[in-house]
Amino acid sequence: MTTDSITIRRPDDWHVHLRDGAMMQAVLPWTAAQFARAIIMPNLVPPVTTSAMAEAYRDRIRAALPAGADFEPLMVCYLTNTTDPDDIERGYREGIWVAAKLYPAGATTNSHGGVTDIALIRPVLERMEQIGMKLLIHGEVTDPAVDIFDREAVFLETKLAPLVRAHPGLRIVLEHATTEEAVDFVRAHRGHMAATITPHHLVINRTSIFQGGIRPHLYCLPIAKREKHRLALRKAATSGEANFFLGTDTAPHYAKLKQAACGCAGCFVAPTALQTYVQVFDEEGALGNFEAFASLNGPAFYGLKVNSGTITLARRSGHAPECVAVEDETVVVFGGGVETAWSVV
Ligand code: DOR
Ligand code: ZN
Repeated sequence: MTTDSITIRRPDDWHVHLRDGAMMQAVLPWTAAQFARAIIMPNLVPPVTTSAMAEAYRDRIRAALPAGADFEPLMVCYLTNTTDPDDIERGYREGIWVAAKLYPAGATTNSHGGVTDIALIRPVLERMEQIGMKLLIHGEVTDPAVDIFDREAVFLETKLAPLVRAHPGLRIVLEHATTEEAVDFVRAHRGHMAATITPHHLVINRTSIFQGGIRPHLYCLPIAKREKHRLALRKAATSGEANFFLGTDTAPHYAKLKQAACGCAGCFVAPTALQTYVQVFDEEGALGNFEAFASLNGPAFYGLKVNSGTITLARRSGHAPECVAVEDETVVVFGGGVETAWSVV
């Protein structure tokens, strides 16, 4: 028997880069069309490091929403070497912060203001552990001598394992997991750890980035890995296990900045996210676990209510634009410009 449509509770996106200004105006409707809430990444220029900055950013997001949109931005604190534990606690208790993000300095886009040594933020991590505030991690080492395809696995061993040992009560999300090692690590720490998994890491591997030539729109960080890792991610995402949930890492950049001698990292996946995910669940024979991954596991980990309302996806060919205009520039859509097997009804 084939299932031709699936109706699930409205999903959330637990990892989104909305940017700001004209870019936000152009990309936000795509996220708000699919998701009820989203964890908003704080790597703006300058980064969102104070609760006042977060409130102002949240107001700008709300003001940029299309009329009638029902969407709630969940704000995240960008940790630095000098983040003040009292500040963090105050913003958390006031309901401004939902979580804090650890970017190892230099690991990715706009992360140069991030943390240079985890030892420097011990007091912040201790406080977060005490108050139950979640820590979101970009899990890659930054040593240029470490092969780019090994940076996540090396981070798990050299940074994350000691961090977890030092803070056993801290609830941690390993963002955009890309390796079998990450999946295993999260499983070994179930209960206090989870991972988000992007749509693109479920459908491309590292060879895809070089298929017939270099494909800058498939370049993101952490970079896609070998096929065996993609298969491990698909198994984890579609397993229904509570510690894996949806986080698109939609990360728009102007096409000209990706199609460049030194192109930016990030895939703009918001317009095709649910279509890609549901197709993966369909291919894996796991549509029955789709709602857990998209709509239930994330809220449970964050201690938030499940959304009311539903969304329906149908096995019916659809189409997302090849690119989205931002003033005089364009942003290329991951999986855009070609038929998708599933559509949002
Ligand atoms: O590919 C990425 N793009 N990875 C990140 O971690 C950041 C993101 C961005 O902000 O562009
Ligand atoms: Zn990201």
